[in-house]
Amino acid sequence: MKYTAAIVTVSDKGSVGQREDKSGPAIRKMLEDSYDVKEIIIVPDEIDIIAGTIQDLIDIKAVDLVVTTGGTGVAKRDVTPEATKAVLEKELPGFSELIRMESYKVTPAAIISRGLCGIRRESVIINLPGSPKAATECLGFVLSALPHTLEKLKGDMSDCGSV
Ligand code: MTE
Repeated sequence: MKYTAAIVTVSDKGSVGQREDKSGPAIRKMLEDSYDVKEIIIVPDEIDIIAGTIQDLIDIKAVDLVVTTGGTGVAKRDVTPEATKAVLEKELPGFSELIRMESYKVTPAAIISRGLCGIRRESVIINLPGSPKAATECLGFVLSALPHTLEKLKGDMSDCGSV
């Protein structure tokens, strides 16, 4: 059975229909072969709404993987990392380190992104930047580590020798 996933697009304009969400569908396309993508939710850049949406997806809907896109930069309204931090139980710093390190090879502006990755309950949360290009690039860097992360998170006790 496939793990489930949900995408949270964080965009003030997207949330009121003033900007088409291109990143959510691009992320869905990357995930859908391996994950059962349940929904794309578009929310404004508001800490409580972002945090509440992630919490609801994990605590109520038991989604295994929550991917957010947008709001990771330094603009006044960018608060996705703060909202994510509020709901994370443990960080996965290796994921965000790799995202920024590999992204820096694509563009020096990559270090502007403050995105976090981590876990809550038995689910993984990944913050990606907002543009479809940036979001798909960044997801591509961590995609291959996700199945093993989720297996371990859900209690797989086997050794890691063959991974
Ligand atoms: N990472 C990758 N791989 N590719 C990109 O084009 N753009 C950067 C950065 N990370 C980029 C990237 C830029 S220009 C910004 S401003 C930050 O992500 C933050 O984006 P956000 O505020 O839309 O989340």
